[in-house]
Amino acid sequence: MRTLIAGNWKMHGLIAQLAEIESIAAAVAASRPPADILICPPATLIARAAQLADRRIAIGGQDCHSETAGAFTGDLSAEMLRDSGASAVILGHSERRQGHGETDVIVAAKANAARRTGLLAIICIGETQSQRGDGQTLQVCRDQITGSVPERMTAAETAIAHEPLWAIGTGHTPTAGEIADVHGHIRGILVERFGSEGKAMRILYGGSVKASNALQILAIPDVNGALIGGASLKSADFDAIIRIFAAGLAGGPLP
Ligand code: PGA
Repeated sequence: MRTLIAGNWKMHGLIAQLAEIESIAAAVAASRPPADILICPPATLIARAAQLADRRIAIGGQDCHSETAGAFTGDLSAEMLRDSGASAVILGHSERRQGHGETDVIVAAKANAARRTGLLAIICIGETQSQRGDGQTLQVCRDQITGSVPERMTAAETAIAHEPLWAIGTGHTPTAGEIADVHGHIRGILVERFGSEGKAMRILYGGSVKASNALQILAIPDVNGALIGGASLKSADFDAIIRIFAAGLAGGPLP
């Protein structure tokens, strides 16, 4: 399974920041890391970023509407993202679930739109601190996968991003053992629902991934990539994560 290292820029990035995309794409083209590299900038930058990236790295969106087109002021369809050069879309991020009231049903409808359009759907799930404290992490992940990932999704169309809410932007991460537990559980649910496709679906970890912990996290069984917020904004930070992963995989000295 090919590792996916994805950057989520959230609501950060003006035209000047396209220089970071150029720098990441150039580094990836030069070093050819054994991973798929994706940056999801704000929608305003997707077309320019995709042109600039020129397939050296993939460009994605951070959300889409479930409908193809219509009277939905301010929304963007999966078709529009695709038309702008995106090949993936983040769906159901906790900032959208919490800040925009997105339910599992809404996220599933958006995932169907991504599927219809040929965008990789990166479907986010994750528990809050209090759910974790109450021992509900596994059940929350099960419920969110059941509700947010439509039937018939294939491994090529889908990645699951497990992002504990309390780890996002906080500098705190679960222990390797905790991540292994949750990701093993997620794998079980995916296999239960999707059989061999579920076995091949990538499960990303997200929440305070940075150069100093990336290798340890990416080495955990059933961690097939990372969704990275803060540390994806500067090419130097993001490149360091990619380099450390590639060197660690090769068993060589870490840069
Ligand atoms: P973070 O964000 O890496 O800044 O914690 C991750 C995310 O929200 O996808």
